[in-house]
Amino acid sequence: GNIYLNRENSRGLNLNIGSQYQSFMEKVTSFKDHQWHAGPVVNGETLTTGQVNKVVSPQDLSHQVGHVYWADEQGIEKAIATAHGAFPNWSRTSVEMRASALEEFADLLEEHRHELITLCTLEAGKLLQDGIDEVREAVDFCRYYAVEARKLFAYEGPLMGPTGELNELFVQARGVFACVSPWNFPLAIFTGQIAAALVTGNTVVAKPAEQTSLVAYRAVQLMLEAGIPGDVIQLLPGTGAEVGGKLSSDERICGICFTGSTMTAKAINRDLAERKGAIATLIAETGGQNAMIVDSTALPEQVVTDVIHSAFTSAGQRCSALRVLYLQEDNAERVLELLEGAMQELTVGDPIHYQTDVGPVIDEKAEKELNEHIASISEKNNVLGKSPMPQATQKGSFVQPIAVEISNINELDKEHFGPVLHVVKYKAEDLNQVINDINGTGFGLTLGIHSRNESMAAYIADMVNVGNVYINRNQIGAVVGVQPFGGQGRSGTGPKAGGPHYLYRFITEKTRTNNI
Ligand code: SER
Repeated sequence: GNIYLNRENSRGLNLNIGSQYQSFMEKVTSFKDHQWHAGPVVNGETLTTGQVNKVVSPQDLSHQVGHVYWADEQGIEKAIATAHGAFPNWSRTSVEMRASALEEFADLLEEHRHELITLCTLEAGKLLQDGIDEVREAVDFCRYYAVEARKLFAYEGPLMGPTGELNELFVQARGVFACVSPWNFPLAIFTGQIAAALVTGNTVVAKPAEQTSLVAYRAVQLMLEAGIPGDVIQLLPGTGAEVGGKLSSDERICGICFTGSTMTAKAINRDLAERKGAIATLIAETGGQNAMIVDSTALPEQVVTDVIHSAFTSAGQRCSALRVLYLQEDNAERVLELLEGAMQELTVGDPIHYQTDVGPVIDEKAEKELNEHIASISEKNNVLGKSPMPQATQKGSFVQPIAVEISNINELDKEHFGPVLHVVKYKAEDLNQVINDINGTGFGLTLGIHSRNESMAAYIADMVNVGNVYINRNQIGAVVGVQPFGGQGRSGTGPKAGGPHYLYRFITEKTRTNNI
């Protein structure tokens, strides 16, 4: 049968049902004052080191969530050596064994979802709904790659060839992968990278974002509980400079799977290129300067709902998030009037409350950078909308969601990773210029299109160089196996996460010719 089509994504929770909502909130609240801890995990053992860091909540900097020991040089060396030593055996296990271990891990993620959701909220400032989606995505990655790996490793029989000669093609793992993941999807992307590397028979050294070590640590504990051997998955909490640099320059690491900024991806690429040994693999998913083009046939109410969702969900801290909204002049006024009103209705605040729409940004550094950008851009330009900020937000790293008019996407010096929406008005006859300007940024992650003119939407979708196009809907929240996710150009190397080709970058091939 077609296992691909029979696969199902996880279902999550429907909190519109009163009883589900109540029991969900009770469980979440029970973890509110819990103290978590994390440290390097090497060969199944948690290490303590001399460098202990307090973890505080982005929405309340006085709320300590736990503490984390950052990896020291010794731990890093031991982790790499362990993963390297484990590779020959792990890569020779059956795909079925590896795939079932991941499926077991996915079940454990679901079992522990209330704790993981609460941790995503307390450590990363994610809304509860974002936390629910985060667990689902992590689970889906495991189950999806398990299915894909079974297909990829299935023996396809002999190849064509002359009589008396047996020709066969095999796929095999590459070696030790370093999985370097971001704080904005501290569970989903962390898990997705590791799942892909492990299921294809590689061993892993994982470096989570320094802001979100606790949730990463919990995930690794559950991997071990699921039966994934301790020597194949190592965790190294710490900074990019200290841990990341060592991983990219170590020849025992065969490849790096990275999600984060374009600049860091290039630095990793440079490190990899400068090594003496093998040509290393880089899989990078990076930033964007994502646009949405709205023409005069679009429905303003639907546009505004989708703009709000695309620009301000997760406080704009998704690589897919909308940054530059292009409105055709003919209906710009109506859209902007509705947008201003809708922004007024957004509730900014503590993400532990289910009614909150926009939570904090990740830390004080992000808050400062975003607020500087907002101050400089709103000095020169029209502010088109703002959301109210409650007093209580002074305890945390909050940024007031804002919409500002600019005249061109190329006025933006870089990606501003937060709840800041830039709006450009364009004339119908300038559409091709708009397309050129968007392509001119060199980024190519997501694009939104709102148009009821099908051939217009198809034309724009074809002309803009991006990985994910969304027509007449929001442009975030790609679902595993449904919208394989990832960009091109400055936005990443591909292949797409949660897509049918992702695992290919984690393997090599061997042909065997036997003159029998
Ligand atoms: N997969 C995420 C999304 O689509 C990436 O930011 O929103």
